[in-house]
Parts: sequence; structure tokens; C-alpha cells
Amino acid sequence: MSATPQQRLAPGASARGEFPIFEHTTYANSCSQGALANRVRAAAEEWLEGWDSNGAEWEFWVERNEAARTAFARLVHAEPDEVAVTTSVSQAVSALVSALDLSGERNRIVISEYEFPTVGQIAHAQELRGAEIVHVRPDVDGRIPLERWAEAVDDRTALVCCTAVSFRSGHRHDVTAIAGIAHAKGALVLADSYQAIGSVELDVRTLGADFVTGGTVKYLLGTAGLGFMWIRGSLLPTLLPTQTGWFADEDIFAMSIADYSPHATARRFDGGTPPVPSLYPGVAGMELIAEVGVPAIEAHVGELVDLLFAGLDDLGATVVTPRVKGEHGALVCVLSTDPNALVAALAEERIVTSTRDMNLRISPHLYNVEEDVDRIFEALARHRSLLA
Ligand SMILES: Cc1ncc(COP(=O)(O)O)c(C=O)c1O
Repeated sequence: MSATPQQRLAPGASARGEFPIFEHTTYANSCSQGALANRVRAAAEEWLEGWDSNGAEWEFWVERNEAARTAFARLVHAEPDEVAVTTSVSQAVSALVSALDLSGERNRIVISEYEFPTVGQIAHAQELRGAEIVHVRPDVDGRIPLERWAEAVDDRTALVCCTAVSFRSGHRHDVTAIAGIAHAKGALVLADSYQAIGSVELDVRTLGADFVTGGTVKYLLGTAGLGFMWIRGSLLPTLLPTQTGWFADEDIFAMSIADYSPHATARRFDGGTPPVPSLYPGVAGMELIAEVGVPAIEAHVGELVDLLFAGLDDLGATVVTPRVKGEHGALVCVLSTDPNALVAALAEERIVTSTRDMNLRISPHLYNVEEDVDRIFEALARHRSLLA
């Protein structure tokens, strides 16, 4: 039963009861994995119960796959027919580049230095198909100004990859402005939004990108094994992925081995058997996010991030993530002298964070509150020698 407006969960203290981990732990690692909600656990159990009672529940599995497509579409303000359901960002991006002709004059893929490894690795794999890869590197202050994109993109560029928020530093790209630069040269734009979706409002009607991908593990509160890609509808007829599978066919249950007939919609970017164990918790997580509302989450997280910046300044720490609104998401990265030791020291105090490069990563979400931030500062003050 859907909640009435009065029953809607609000970010902060009122949502916390849904997440048992906060009974004993300060969880601030949503950039790796969102905390487990009671209703997400219940959804995972529903999958097991169905399996135990009825064996292969194909009709429910296919229904959950379509529910996931609809939930992803709703989050990015798109139509379900423009959304592929995938097992990962890797699957989505591999299918996407397989649909691009990279053998001719327009054979370049431009990637930022802040892409997740999978995007860089998939791009470089296309060198085997004739692609050239161009890297856009940050300036000394860590920012990648728009001029760097303009220098890198030209008439030979097929695809520009700009992650929405960097997993390693917390920098947020101006996807709309980058897309403007790319489109002026006839290039397509992919925004990997894994570090944004669920904590930063994404609206494909105004974002400017042609493709948006992400998954459920982090701010969408689900499990590994479920992702998506939004594809601009007008591009679909021109894109024929050669990395494909039977769930991408125009008629899955025709079971033909005689031809390749991709679905007319974004389903042509789906793959094989849907990721059933991930669909149940994934849909439940996305429904929870939709109930709270991404704009409300973004505002709440923004306040916590501001507190983090201020407290880290008080500690004299070196904050890597830009403070300017619009230049960061939910992830705050701070330089450490020994990030693994710092994460371990915080874990000893039941504070969960993570590292990338030499950075400690702190990533609040809808369930975090000011007291979490205070606890983190108290612990960081005790381990000040591990902050650079
Ligand atoms: C920005 C970003 N992209 C992609 C991924 C993961 O990609 P995949 O779903 O292929 O494992 C992550 C994290 O795991 C990420 O932070």
C-alpha cells in the first residue's frame, strides 16, 4: 500500500528507524553501499520465499524487472521505454560502445580523469576496434574547467564520458555545460551517475547527456547486480548494440536462433536473464528513495556536507572535494597520511567510512543526522595525526 502524504518518510531522524545498523554503528559509507533498510531486507526475503514455495516464478521476475525499469525511469524523469535494465554500469557502457561505429573518422572517446575504472577500461578496450582515447585531466586545484573539455572534444569525437560525481574525489561535473560543448562538435555524451543517483536530483529532460547510467548499490539502497542506462529516445533507432542477449530481443519468448532483432525500445540494451536476486531489494530501495524524494534528500545531505566541511576546517584538515554548491554531491573526501589506517581506526569506534587514493571518504545519506557528523569529528580529532 502506498503511503499517504502524512506518512511519507522524511530524511533524518524519522527515517533512521528503517535502518537497524544505526542502533550500533555510525554509517557514513553510502558511496560504497547504502545501509540496509528493513523493507529492503523484506523484499530480498520475498524473493527467497517465492523461490522456496514455487520454484521458478518467471512471471514475478519479469514483473520485477519492469518495476525496476519504471523505478529507474521515475528517478531520472524519463519514460520506461528509454531505460535499459542491466546488471551493472559495466554491462550498460559495454553495450553502448558496442553500438558505436569507431572505425571511421569519428573514432575518439573522451574521458575525464575522474571516471570510474570500468569506464576507462571499456573505453581503452575499444582501441582494439579502432578507437582513440583522449583523457581530460584536472588542473592543479583538482577541478576540470570547461576549457579542458573544449580542448579535448573535436569533430573526431564520438563519445564524451563525464561522470556526474567523482567516486575518488567528490568533484561534480557540470554535465549540462559539457554536453553543450560535446553536442556542438556532434559528439554524444554519457554521464555515469552512480555517485549521484538517489542523493542528487537528476532530470534527463534538462541534464543534456544522451546516456545516463548508474546502479542500486549506493544511494539507491539496493544490492550489487542491478543497474540501468537511460538512452535518449530519438537516438534509439540509430543504435544497434552488438553486445546483446535474449532479453534485448523484440520478442524474448520467440526463442529464435535465426536472427538479431533488437527491441524497438531501450530494452535493446538489456542483456540476459534479469538479475532476479537484485531486483527485489533494488525496487524496494528505489521506492523508499522515491517516497522520501530526491530533492528532500539532496537538501538534507547538503546540510550535513556543509557541517562536514566546517568541522574538517576546524580540524585543519585538507579537504579535496570542492565546497562550492553544484561542484560536489554527497561525497566528501579528505586527505589522509594513511587512509587505510584511518578507516580501520574509525571502524574500531564503529564508524564506517572508506578510502580511495589517499582520501578518506565520508558520504552521508538520508538516514544520517548531525550527531553522526559530531561523532565522526570527535573520532577524527582523536586520530588527527592520520589526517594530512
Ligand atoms: C561512479 C561509479 N561508476 C560505476 C561503479 C560500478 O560499476 P559496475 O556497476 O559496473 O560495477 C561505481 C562503484 O562501484 C561507481 O562509483
